[in-house]
Amino acid sequence: MPGRDEWWRNAACYEVYLRSFADSDGDGIGDLPGLRSRLRYLRDLGVDALWITPFYPSPQVDHGYDVSDYTDVDPRFGTLGDFDAVLEGAHQMGLRVIIDLVPNHTSAQHTGFRAAMAAGPGSPERGRYHFRPGQGRGGLRPPNNWRSAFGGPAWTRVPGAEGQADEWYLHLHHQEQPDLNWASPAVGDEFESVLRFWLDRGVDGLRIDVAMCLAKDPRYPDLRRGDDRHPYHNRPEVHEIYGRWRAVLDSYPGDRMMIAEAVAPDAAGLARYVRAGECHQVFNFAWLETRWSAADFRRIIKDTLDAVRAVNASPTWVLASHDAVRTVSRYATSGPNGNAVGLERARAALLVMLSLPGSAYVFQGEELGLPQVDVPPSARRDPAWVQSGGSMPGRDGCRVPIPWNKGEQSCGFSPAGSSAPWLPQPQSWGELSVADQERDSSSTLAFYRKALRIRRTVLGGLDDGVVILPSAPGTLVLARDPGFICVLNCGSRPARPPAGDLILSSTHRPGSLLPPNSAAWFHTGGTNWVSRR
Ligand code: BGC
Repeated sequence: MPGRDEWWRNAACYEVYLRSFADSDGDGIGDLPGLRSRLRYLRDLGVDALWITPFYPSPQVDHGYDVSDYTDVDPRFGTLGDFDAVLEGAHQMGLRVIIDLVPNHTSAQHTGFRAAMAAGPGSPERGRYHFRPGQGRGGLRPPNNWRSAFGGPAWTRVPGAEGQADEWYLHLHHQEQPDLNWASPAVGDEFESVLRFWLDRGVDGLRIDVAMCLAKDPRYPDLRRGDDRHPYHNRPEVHEIYGRWRAVLDSYPGDRMMIAEAVAPDAAGLARYVRAGECHQVFNFAWLETRWSAADFRRIIKDTLDAVRAVNASPTWVLASHDAVRTVSRYATSGPNGNAVGLERARAALLVMLSLPGSAYVFQGEELGLPQVDVPPSARRDPAWVQSGGSMPGRDGCRVPIPWNKGEQSCGFSPAGSSAPWLPQPQSWGELSVADQERDSSSTLAFYRKALRIRRTVLGGLDDGVVILPSAPGTLVLARDPGFICVLNCGSRPARPPAGDLILSSTHRPGSLLPPNSAAWFHTGGTNWVSRR
């Protein structure tokens, strides 16, 4: 692999939600050999890197985000040899590989947690997790009011053995995902060896799951609205952890990177993760949480750029992930044509995202225009749905397996004669299949390929700066030097495009005016870069 070229600064990265990408062995669950067989598809799509969701041994309570062994591969997904083959195959095609590290919590089946349960109160084994006495008479109430992200209290009671007190352990997610105690030096040492294990194998990057939660207030106070400092979000100690990891990454040849999954109250809070000597990037979810509005997009772009530039980092942009409602449905309007409008808007948002400096993260299936699926309640598998007793809809609807080929069983996700896919695909899923869209030059897949190719070959040569130009209400106009303009129309009336040549439009109806729910790229003169397309 090449040396330090900071490839991640402007990369287009593709999130592979492994369970739902491609199933090679017919068990209805995607796996590493399945991914390997589709690497060519990803290369042809025009992305620079893959982020692969967790494939480690795991009881799969949270579909891999409950890890029982950090240095192996779950047999459902393949073997370490299969992982090496994916890595090698990807590198041969010029694709970088980012793996997903889950340091906030382990599975309750991890040997460390089993040892802690067996060892009892006050033991060093329990010191690696958060075990606390309960409140009130007999300690029958949880240690504090913290809540699990999936609903219910964030604490589970563990009855003491003969003569020992009961304790409670902390899990900010499912009760099968106990939180590690990062104040224990043993935890930091163990994770450093995990990092080295995968860096030695040759991975190019790490995505850090729930990066803002690792440090907890050692006094375990109740969570109160308006507290100056959150008891477990974005505490200063987390930055020491990433500083240590950064030193490890920097000691390796090549250009290894890490990207934090963090949520902070504002862009400046997020930018703390990408200060010198810490993470290379942090996910910027602001866009993913915003309605269809040019004014909101303008604000997010400006805030993001201001914040990351202040620390000399590069921005990231994300429209979708395995945790969010799919973009097409998020932008859909009510009424019979709702999803068609949603698709137009998703395509337009892609053009804006790809026209910005920094890196863009694309979630599998976005390139097919997949909508959110209303998975029947009896088939839902997300712990958020199960643990909340149905009060949270869960995330299954964006995780339905990819349709590769209309005519085949499971739309080509699994080989013929396989078990049903782990989440049911809707009847109409085949209409959106890769094979069908490859045959249609006006498909969303063809559009993504074109946009990603132009981004790589042409926009990659633009300056890092972007200027937001004054524009009519409901529109957003971005300019980059030399001679590039992106226009987005979120308004209800057609908008006037800038003088210049059209490079690419998100809409099937290009004309002299830019229709509502569309975006387009223009070349406004300057150099001859358009001829490089
Ligand atoms: C992952 C989720 C997961 C959670 C707990 C998140 O950030 O993206 O899918 O449920 O972490 O690990």
